[in-house]
Amino acid sequence: MDYYRQLDKGGKEKLEWQVSSFDWSLLDLIRGQSDAHERGCFSPISVLTASELEKNASAYETQGVEAIRQGEVGAVLLAGGQGSRLGYDGPKGTLNIGKTKDVFVFELMINELSRIARKSGTFVHLYIMTSDLNYKKTTAFFENKDFFGYPEEYIHFFVQENLPAVDLSGKLLMAERDSLAYSPNGNGGWFLSLGKSGLLEHVHIHGIQWLNVFAVDNVLQKVVDPVFIGAVGSSGADCGTKVIRKTGPEEKVGVLCLEDGVPSIVEYYDLGKDMAESRNEDGELTYGFGVTLNYLFRVEALEHVDMSKLPVHLAKKRIPFAAPDGTKIVPKEENGYKFEYLVLDLIKLMKDCLPCEVVREREFAPIKNLTGVDSIETAQALLEKNGYNL
Ligand code: UTP
Repeated sequence: MDYYRQLDKGGKEKLEWQVSSFDWSLLDLIRGQSDAHERGCFSPISVLTASELEKNASAYETQGVEAIRQGEVGAVLLAGGQGSRLGYDGPKGTLNIGKTKDVFVFELMINELSRIARKSGTFVHLYIMTSDLNYKKTTAFFENKDFFGYPEEYIHFFVQENLPAVDLSGKLLMAERDSLAYSPNGNGGWFLSLGKSGLLEHVHIHGIQWLNVFAVDNVLQKVVDPVFIGAVGSSGADCGTKVIRKTGPEEKVGVLCLEDGVPSIVEYYDLGKDMAESRNEDGELTYGFGVTLNYLFRVEALEHVDMSKLPVHLAKKRIPFAAPDGTKIVPKEENGYKFEYLVLDLIKLMKDCLPCEVVREREFAPIKNLTGVDSIETAQALLEKNGYNL
């Protein structure tokens, strides 16, 4: 309130607008009064296993390459995250994970796309989602690196939406005297943000029917993978997801299952102990397939999804803010909540989804943490194991 009184007319109007457009019902999530996470009845899902995929790989690949050649496939790289666990000062994609030479995370993804372009004879349009916070650094990085040799006219950037962040008791945090602290609204808003940016028009104009959506973290993933595209395309499903076998009940990955009979993903923190530890007669985990954040969506089907049904999640994070005396504070500990939409919730809103198992040692090396599990070191080791020269 003290802030408000000291503001000039423009500052007051700005802050009033920000506060009045905040959806106060989001605070119910903090008070535990929201039913946004009320879940249905879970059961196991059947998956196209890696060996089944392998058996038909050549036919799937031919079909996938043909779809790419016809220009039917686009790619969406989700790169708007803040990477707070990694604590690297810059967009995660600009991280250099080379040991004897430069190897940037974005570069690995562009190299994959270039490999697919050589195979199919066609460049795939890549749409990169950034946040307000990392847009400038991301675009400047690509320009500085000459887009790693990929044609610039095939790379398009768009910016995701923001939502105000709150402290641990649910009070709105300030970024400036006349402005709330905003944070990126999670990776689940990508399709709406693509639309708002005008790039969905571009998707239509270019006849793109499928979008391969993937995270920046997994440096070993195959993007625009023809086998995956062929498998999903020939199944008739509206979407597909690459899954891996969990290493054990405690692994922190979202788990794919059926919820009230439709494919759905349960985040690891929502997976109860019973479900996490349940095993089939053959000893395999009943809910043993984790998602890798690599999806294929049919564009037409996405357009029929009621995105207002996406639930909002609370993410406890370190959120920079301005103290009452105006001092900027960058906290060392988690000090508040961001509100996030998650791409994994989209699966439940699609009509169907084909889960395709990939071999984790060949396709899953996420960088989430500075050290330990899913860190730069573990990712480097997996890349080297797969023949990458770092
Ligand atoms: P994470 O869930 O790991 O979040 O993102 P994060 O913000 O990058 O990292 P932490 O949790 O703070 O450590 C998974 C993928 O979704 C993207 C990320 O860039 C990453 O590719 N993402 C996440 C967005 O594009 N926007 C967001 O708001 C959040």
